[in-house]
Amino acid sequence: MTWRTKSSLAWLRALPGIKEDEPLASRTSFGIGGPAEFFLELGRPEAIEKALDGSMERGIPYLLLGAGTNLLIADRGVEGLVLRVVGRDHEIEGTRVRASAGLKMMRLARIVADAGLRGFEFAIGVPGTVGGAVYQDAGCWGKEIREVLVGVEGYVPGRGVQRWTPSDLGLGYRTSALREGALKGALVLSATVQLERGDGEEARQLMARLTRERSETQPIKTKNCGSVFKNPKGDSAGRLVQAAGLKGARAGNAVVSTLHGNFIVNEGGATAADVRKLIEQVMDEVTRRFGIQLEPEVEMVGRWK
Ligand code: EPU
Repeated sequence: MTWRTKSSLAWLRALPGIKEDEPLASRTSFGIGGPAEFFLELGRPEAIEKALDGSMERGIPYLLLGAGTNLLIADRGVEGLVLRVVGRDHEIEGTRVRASAGLKMMRLARIVADAGLRGFEFAIGVPGTVGGAVYQDAGCWGKEIREVLVGVEGYVPGRGVQRWTPSDLGLGYRTSALREGALKGALVLSATVQLERGDGEEARQLMARLTRERSETQPIKTKNCGSVFKNPKGDSAGRLVQAAGLKGARAGNAVVSTLHGNFIVNEGGATAADVRKLIEQVMDEVTRRFGIQLEPEVEMVGRWK
C-alpha cells in the first residue's frame, strides 16, 4: 500500500469532480461489485492528462472503465482510481467515421446506418463502448472491429496523445496490446472506422434481424457480462458448457444461463465471489470432461483478497 501517502491522497481529493468510495455495481452490466476507492469521469483532454500522468507519477493504481460490460468487479471494490472517459461525439466524413471512446457501439451502429453507411451492422450486437471494443477487439456474428478499424487515438501516461494504426494495437480475437501487451494502461480516446456506402433501410433491417436472433439465443434482458469465456479454437465455449451438463448450475444467485451456456446471469443479489466460484466450477468440469482449458473473456478486477 505504498502509494497511499498523505500527499497522494491529498492530490486525489483535489481533482475536480473526484468521488470517494463510489459504488460501481450499477456501472456494470452484471450489476455486481464493490466501490471505487476514488472515481473520476473524464471529458476534457487536460483533465485526462492530469489524472493519468499524476497517477503514474505517484504510483496510484488506476482502472479504465467503459460501459462495464465485460467486467467482474470484486465485492471489496477497486483500489486507487477508477476512470471513465465520457466523450461520446462522432464525425462522419464520406465513408470514414471517427467516434469518441465513450460512445456505445450499438448507438454508433444506428448512427452510421442512418447516415447511409454499411459494414458496421455487427456492432448492434456489441454491448460496450467504442473504447472497450478497441481494447478487446469486440465483435459479433463473426465480425470484429479490427476489420473496419483504420486508426485509433489514445493517451499514454507520461507520453501524451498518440495515433495508432491497427497493427500497432496487436488486435486479435478478444485481445489487444491495450489489454495484455505493450500499451497496457493506455487510454483509447477515439477510433476511426472505414465503412462503405450503403442503404440505411437495408442496414436497419439487417440489424433488426440480427437483434432478434440474438435475443433468441442469448439472455440479453438479464444482468450478465456477455460471453464469460473465449471460444477455444474451432469450438464453442457455450457448446462445451452445455455438453458438460452445466446449464442451470448455480453458486448463490449466479446461474449458468439455461439459454446459452457461455453466459452467467445475476438473478439479483449475486456477489462477485458467487460468479467467480461458478466460473471456476465450470472451468474445472469442462477440463475434467473434455480436457479443454477454457479461458475467461470477462476481466476480473479489484480487490479479491
Ligand atoms: N451452442 C450450444 N449451446 C449453448 C450455446 C451455444 O450448443 O448453450 C452452440 C450453438 O448452437 C452454435 C455454437 O455453439 O452452434 C456457437 O454459439 P453462438 O452462435 O451462440 O455463438 P458463440 O460462439 O457462443 C459468439 C461471441 C458472442 C457473439 C456471438 C454471436 C465469443 C466468446 N462470443 O458467441 O460475443 O454475440 O458469437 O455472433 O466469441 C461476447 O463476446 O461477449 C459475445 C456475446
